[in-house]
Amino acid sequence: SILIVDFGSQVTQLIARRVREAGVYCEIAPFNSAAAAFERLAPKGIILSGGPSSVMWNDSPRAPQHFFEAGLPILAICYGQQTMAHQLGGQVAPSENREFGRAFIEVVGRSALFDGLWSEGERHQVWMSHGDRVEALPEGFSVVARSEGAPYAIATDEARRFYSMMFHPEVVHTPDGHKLLANFARHICGCAGDWTMAEYRQTKIAEIRAQVGQGRVICGLSGGVDSAVAAVLIHEAIGDQLTCVFVDHGLMRQGEADQVVSLFRGHYNIPLVHVNAETLFLSGLAGLDDPEAKRKFIGKTFIDVFEDEAKKIGGADFLAQGTLYPDVIESVSFTGGPSVTIKSHHNVGGLPERMNMKLVEPLRELFKDEVRALGRELGLPDVFVGRHPFPGPGLAIRIPGAVSKDKCDILRKADAIYLEEIRNAGLYDAIWQAFAVLLPVRTVGVMGDHRTYEHVCALRAVTSVDGMTADIYPFDAAFLARVATRIVNEVQGINRVVYDFTSKPPGTIEWE
Ligand code: XMP
Repeated sequence: SILIVDFGSQVTQLIARRVREAGVYCEIAPFNSAAAAFERLAPKGIILSGGPSSVMWNDSPRAPQHFFEAGLPILAICYGQQTMAHQLGGQVAPSENREFGRAFIEVVGRSALFDGLWSEGERHQVWMSHGDRVEALPEGFSVVARSEGAPYAIATDEARRFYSMMFHPEVVHTPDGHKLLANFARHICGCAGDWTMAEYRQTKIAEIRAQVGQGRVICGLSGGVDSAVAAVLIHEAIGDQLTCVFVDHGLMRQGEADQVVSLFRGHYNIPLVHVNAETLFLSGLAGLDDPEAKRKFIGKTFIDVFEDEAKKIGGADFLAQGTLYPDVIESVSFTGGPSVTIKSHHNVGGLPERMNMKLVEPLRELFKDEVRALGRELGLPDVFVGRHPFPGPGLAIRIPGAVSKDKCDILRKADAIYLEEIRNAGLYDAIWQAFAVLLPVRTVGVMGDHRTYEHVCALRAVTSVDGMTADIYPFDAAFLARVATRIVNEVQGINRVVYDFTSKPPGTIEWE
């Protein structure tokens, strides 16, 4: 495996992606716990990430010094290059010529890093992002590629197998970057390149067994992919030492709660407590129309119900969560950036301390699409694994204003028609999220010879990579007209349908 030491770059997770895409297992550790990760992993090579700091600051992060004496290959990127140079006796200075974005480097020497890929005299596009630069190389290093702004674009010590670069090989704007990383991991470090999800599954099962021992584990299911994959994996590891609790708030889409129950009980035979708390949630929501008040109520009630159920089954030693890598990286951020906003519902926040439980988080190293691949590996059905994200507060934030059972039922019907049409048109996987919203507005219509006075339904569909920004999905008018006709004809309580054309920003994906 490869150990990636994180110095806080925005794109450290992409390094991990590229290495795994090369079939090599890797893990990311923040610089201040890298030494422990090194002991545990016994990696065949180390990658030092970029980061926002300057090595000239007093307290800027460093790689554990003994990494440079371990006899292992090291690839250092951007800030990693600077700290490596600094820690090995070179000199770093602020650059007057700051280079950001697309740049071209010229190959001026040979290196095992691009052996068979690049030759002397060639120019290659890379993606730079740096303020400081190396002024004097440590002993043993020489320059093998440079650009005007970056005389040490790539500097290496071939004998010690230390490779450093000022640019980011992990981003797509460095077209050959993934090949450099694959070359490092496989040819230079000698990793086999045969890592697969099947192997990950086995590794994690062994780890879960070692961590849990004879202890009891409780896992909250949200109905989403992450908690389901975590639960199935943990069950495979420790069987009925695991109990799943599904707090059903009655705010799920049509059929989704049943799907969760039949998947766990029927398909996997995993012990499942299905708490039907619809009445509790809806009665509490009845007086609330402020979006944040609704979210807070749902989050708090969820935790209360979950805690009650956990007590009923006699408690547990461990709480299992489907935490993903993007959640982890935010929470280890040491750069003074914003800390994680824990989504009020998905994370059973505060419970581990309240109930004195330890955490089991087997998906901590994975990205969303890797979780999906693991889900398929574990035999979860495609329709489940490929689901669009669904917010913890569910339909409550898709019914602006006061929520009622009637409104939920109306919305569920409209939403189901919309999604059925999207699936039939083969568009489901091209869309990040699609859903119907039931507006607290009535308009006049005419059906047959009768006047109607019913609710407006808004349709939303967006494309996105991470939910942070989003663009509207450009359906053709005929498709939208078909959905509108079906909804008005088939759903009593809706007589008008509109399409939301707002991107994010300035809109958000959800209406509340
Ligand atoms: P917004 O509406 O902020 O949504 O553009 C971005 C993504 O987050 C989801 N979302 C939530 N998820 N609890 C959740 O678990 C929430 O309160 C919540 N609010 C929004 C939303 O569905 C989208 O994927």
